[in-house]
Amino acid sequence: MKKKLRLAIAGLGTVGCATLRQLRIRSEELARVCGREMEVVAVSARERGKERGVSLDGLDWCEDALSLAARDDVDLVVELIGGHEGTALQLMEASLAAGKHVVTANKAACAHHGVALARLAESRGVQLRFEAGIAGGIPVVKIVREALSGNQIHEARGILNGTCNYILSSMTMHGRSYAEALREAQRLGYAEADPGLDVDGLDAAHKLALLSGLAFRHRPCLDAVRVEGIERVTQEDIGFAREFGYEIRLLATARCGFHGSEKNVEQWVRPALIGRDSLLAHIQEARNGISLRGDFGGNLFLAGDGAGGAATASAVVADILDVACGREVFPLGAPLDALPECPPAPEDGEGQFYLRVHAADRPGSMAKIAEGLARADISIEKIAQPGVGAAHPSHLPVVLLTHETGEKRMREAVASLAQERDVVASSLLLRVEAR
Ligand code: HSE
Repeated sequence: MKKKLRLAIAGLGTVGCATLRQLRIRSEELARVCGREMEVVAVSARERGKERGVSLDGLDWCEDALSLAARDDVDLVVELIGGHEGTALQLMEASLAAGKHVVTANKAACAHHGVALARLAESRGVQLRFEAGIAGGIPVVKIVREALSGNQIHEARGILNGTCNYILSSMTMHGRSYAEALREAQRLGYAEADPGLDVDGLDAAHKLALLSGLAFRHRPCLDAVRVEGIERVTQEDIGFAREFGYEIRLLATARCGFHGSEKNVEQWVRPALIGRDSLLAHIQEARNGISLRGDFGGNLFLAGDGAGGAATASAVVADILDVACGREVFPLGAPLDALPECPPAPEDGEGQFYLRVHAADRPGSMAKIAEGLARADISIEKIAQPGVGAAHPSHLPVVLLTHETGEKRMREAVASLAQERDVVASSLLLRVEAR
């Protein structure tokens, strides 16, 4: 047998404890698979005395997580603290600089600092792996980076945030309020320490920036992701969308296009209406789903648990096992020198839209909305004034779906509708994605 691989784990929250548990339960089998034993020698977390449901006996407890990077008896540091800077980032930097492999679930740090971290890993000849950072238990990093490496991927599109999907699908299926559903997602351990990162779309943006980089072979660029959260989606919108034959989900999409021979990559995270029959519409609760469109591999759809201890630990353990087996990969899918910056996308995209405005409950107000859109040359596919359950008794919601039109044109039309006397209260504009 080869020399034992000695591990340290920093962060013993939901994922850290599940990782420890999985490594223990599977220790003999994993050692057989990679011809090498793995041993957790040290751990670090905020509170020592906390009840975790997993024994820390025999493990060296370190008050200071950063000290793990300096230990001679550690070959691989598992960073599960989270956060895009502070201790988590310092620990990864120090560990890589000290020639230790790093396995992390930290999509925020990798999206913000992936290039610098990958540079360190490459220069020290060690592994930096973040499978657990994207879509929890779905091995999408490995699939894109390795299994599909001979393809040109055209599009990666999916549900990448379990918390938002839990909120939206339980508002849909169980009529829960937004606040109730969020509390439940927190209780189940899906949400980030700061759940604002989930609901404002940033967590999905971190994941998408990394996925886009791997899929289209560019350096991850968080600033290139257009992000919108789910907070403005109401129970009413979910009901109206259903009447039109759609579900509302937080979608993350990266798409590669060409302008002549110039490649561009469009990346966005936003709540959107998706056709009720699409595969993504069947993704419920904290599950994630990703569709990948490529050339030779055709279309692929992956689904699984996108958040939670056991699913995320499964990805962490798989990364550890790869390192133990000596499988080497470039952290960002190719040598950094071969990866260009992300080629910017055109400003204005085309699409179909869902619009909800509130209009005075008097004759002609719906016609005014239709006229306003007609003036902007925007064609309406469906329009309704449902009335029931209206938030403002004297102002009823008007909801409509447009045909394909330019986003800039649509936004300008909505801004000018807001100037109309009969149109009041907030509007909500969402993309419609039929498939
Ligand atoms: N907060 C994240 C989510 C955890 O809800 O998807 C998994 O990355």
